[in-house]
Amino acid sequence: MLNVAVLISGAGSNLRAFLEATDDPDFPARVVVVGADRDAEGLDHADHFEVPSFSVPYANFPTREAWGAELAEQLRVWNPDLIVLSGLMRLLPDNVVTEFAPRIINTHPAYLPEFPGAHGVRDALAAGATQTGASVIQVDGGVDTGPILAQERVAVEPGDTEETLHARIKPVERRLLIDVVRRIATGALVLD
Ligand code: GAR
Repeated sequence: MLNVAVLISGAGSNLRAFLEATDDPDFPARVVVVGADRDAEGLDHADHFEVPSFSVPYANFPTREAWGAELAEQLRVWNPDLIVLSGLMRLLPDNVVTEFAPRIINTHPAYLPEFPGAHGVRDALAAGATQTGASVIQVDGGVDTGPILAQERVAVEPGDTEETLHARIKPVERRLLIDVVRRIATGALVLD
């Protein structure tokens, strides 16, 4: 059984779908803890599934590294085999990446390397793209620059807003994430 820690910042709708998938006893991974960089609404999903959670509010720390040191401390308690960034809207500092890489993966609402960063959906629309996508990547020290583990195209429809397009991308992200974690858990995909 692969023990997974999930980190979020917001509503956690992808986290919710991941918790539903991992709740199946036949799924080869389980969520051991959910963490957040603020008092995130999505932590309620962890409560619902009786999964422990913690928050390390970024605003309480003088530097990104100090925040990262506390985040790493919290994660260490759960000894995760894998860390999933599922809407964590903050770049992990080097001290965290160095400690846990290559066992950190991230979901992103664009077809990387297109439209990296915090506004992948908005940026695709602003660029007039006719297609964008969803990606699951391994996390390195950069902004969405790590090796791509899975990705799929999603068409931009005429009249799409950031909300409508993001709502069509998220189910694809969820499917890709669940598949990547299953492959890691079964040894079909090796992170190195
Ligand atoms: C997801 O689309 C995730 O890929 C994105 O935030 C959303 C979180 O939604 N992450 C990034 O853009 C990271 N650069 P959720 O809180 O409803 O799961």
